[in-house]
Amino acid sequence: MRRLALGLAFVAVSLTAQTSPFSGTWQRVPGEIADTFVFNVAGDRLTGVMVTSNDRRMLLAGQVIGADVAFEARNPLSPDAPFRRYRGRLTPAGLDLTLAQLIAQPAFPYAVPPDWKPGPPLRLRKASSDTELRLPATLQHTPLPPFRKLPTNGLARTPPMGWNSWNKFADAVNDVDVRAMADALVATGLRDAGYTYINIDDTWEGRRDAQGNIRANAKFPDMHALADYVHAKGLKLGIYSSPGPKTCAGYEGSYLHEAQDARTYAAWGVDYLKYDWCSGGLVYAAKEMPQAYEKMALALRATGRPIVFSICQYGELDVQSWGAAAGGNLWRTTGDISDHYDAMARNGFSQFALHGIAGPGHWTDPDMLEVGNGGMTAAEYRTHMSLWAMLAAPLLAGNDLRAMTPEVHDILANREVIAVDQDKLGTQGWRVWQSGPLEIWKRPLAGGSYAVAVFNQGTTAAKVAVRWSDLRMLHPRSLRDLWAHRDLGSATQECLASVEPRGVVLLRASFGVEEDPQ
Ligand code: GLA
Repeated sequence: MRRLALGLAFVAVSLTAQTSPFSGTWQRVPGEIADTFVFNVAGDRLTGVMVTSNDRRMLLAGQVIGADVAFEARNPLSPDAPFRRYRGRLTPAGLDLTLAQLIAQPAFPYAVPPDWKPGPPLRLRKASSDTELRLPATLQHTPLPPFRKLPTNGLARTPPMGWNSWNKFADAVNDVDVRAMADALVATGLRDAGYTYINIDDTWEGRRDAQGNIRANAKFPDMHALADYVHAKGLKLGIYSSPGPKTCAGYEGSYLHEAQDARTYAAWGVDYLKYDWCSGGLVYAAKEMPQAYEKMALALRATGRPIVFSICQYGELDVQSWGAAAGGNLWRTTGDISDHYDAMARNGFSQFALHGIAGPGHWTDPDMLEVGNGGMTAAEYRTHMSLWAMLAAPLLAGNDLRAMTPEVHDILANREVIAVDQDKLGTQGWRVWQSGPLEIWKRPLAGGSYAVAVFNQGTTAAKVAVRWSDLRMLHPRSLRDLWAHRDLGSATQECLASVEPRGVVLLRASFGVEEDPQ
């Protein structure tokens, strides 16, 4: 009732006006290109476009009722992705807009976090009565050369291993912590177990200088010196940028500066670039993604420095079909992981049938590790690590390496599991059997062995009979439990695995001779 009464007050205003008071271009206060809304109102119908710092969204199903407005914002790039429903109200100070609902789509593996709540309203002010979207030159589309298949750059013959700042530090990452993580990788033995990249994720970027060269912000006083420090420890340095004008966290992206940025990274001594789509959608059409990535791959190659190229665009546009050809050494196939079993399981288990594409030099990336960040049990973290090893996924630890419990250390440092991940054959594993929450995956390894993972996604312990014939395998000559570090002897028709709730039994099945049992 209250809503109706307020609405009526504004109806009086809009009835006397020529056009709807909503029509025009609205901007968030303080004005930034991020969060610009262009509304077109005809009768009580509203359409338009919304520009966030990341993308453009179409405004659909919009309705104006007096002083109230409601519409949906959908990203045409990912029609299956969760979409947003906004509600707004005109006030004398402007338009107060609330992101009222984030609506998941059943077909999309990227769910709405269970703790999601509407945020405080955005206060918008009317910037003009323009009902066309007008963007500054730096945000306008620039054509890209046609896509061509690139040969491999010869890097990442096994899935990259190391540490990345995002999962634990997010925008708090700084030079001091990165150096401390480099020290800790060495001190904990993780470097010697194979974790060699120290990757700075988003929020290191500062402003460009007068010549357009990207500079780090105050958190990273001297990138070159940091790279030297990391290299002196026998480690490599990774960095992060975006093909769009802004990164996901709203920092400076590489749009229209690709070659220059690649040269800067090379001059600093950078060995790895994660290139994250985010605002790419502001300046490119969806179908241009492969070329936008290829542009940076070519820029990196032109520097002459070996730089691993990590494509991050959450699995859009069937990335596995073009990621390697665009010069990617790895490509994200999922939305962001978080430190919860459900999020980890969604990212990992959803890859059950993506095998046959990844291989030496080009890998499936279901996102970085959360092991040790505190949101999962040890059994769940063992599942995480095992699943990533079965997928031949990059192992980029994402925890504070200075504060690991022995249990967490032993999960990350398990050399037998790492050996599965890093197997030279580079074949991605796949699911071969499923019954309710129980799944068995296999992964062929160099020399004719197999890794076999028995997963229990249920919340009660389970006994699973692993029948070799079900897995289309001969009886292994020997079996080893890679978490218990125990030989289980020779296997007969089947082996009985006791699997903890949300846990795993990871086996290495060997056949004694170099043979392929299939
Ligand atoms: C995206 C990526 C994350 C992280 C953040 C940084 O969400 O998927 O892995 O890089 O951006 O802003």
